[in-house]
Amino acid sequence: MDLQQKIVLTGFMGVGKSSVARHLACLLDCERLDLDDVIIHNERRAIADIIKAEGEARFRQIETANLENVLQNLSAPILSLGGGTWTIAENRRLIKSHGFISVWLESTFDHCWQNIKFSRKERPLAASKTQTQRLFEEREKLYCLADWHFIIKPGFNSYDIANQIAEEVFCKI
Ligand code: S3P
Repeated sequence: MDLQQKIVLTGFMGVGKSSVARHLACLLDCERLDLDDVIIHNERRAIADIIKAEGEARFRQIETANLENVLQNLSAPILSLGGGTWTIAENRRLIKSHGFISVWLESTFDHCWQNIKFSRKERPLAASKTQTQRLFEEREKLYCLADWHFIIKPGFNSYDIANQIAEEVFCKI
């Protein structure tokens, strides 16, 4: 489908950005990209390996460079971000200046933490529960700056949210 709107999906680690993006792309019959996957492909190593070997600051530089490149060349209208991407002011500026609408997938810390704990994805920035909860609380005010907010309530799954986004943001279905 040829869509006018281009969106980025943001939200905390474990909220389900990638699976919502997958369902949404399926519903809208369009392409989607995941920024972490792009970084893994370009760097030829896992995100966790970059952070562990070179530190978070270097990872953020790599992330911003990849984001800018993807925004400039993106043919897909849906881009799911890493949990920290939107928290960087320069990244928010790039996203807006390239005409992307931002969608925050909001949920409780407990919901995210359950998914983090049971996921196979290694997340060095979510090593301990206390530390991760602090990060969650610090980031809320930044996620709040997104254009659209969708709350993931208990019992809602990523398909339901994708449906809501298709309906409200893309006026489809
Ligand atoms: C990060 C989230 C991760 C990944 C990296 C840093 C963060 O992506 O980009 O480990 O700072 O919140 P997910 O949100 O997909 O876990």
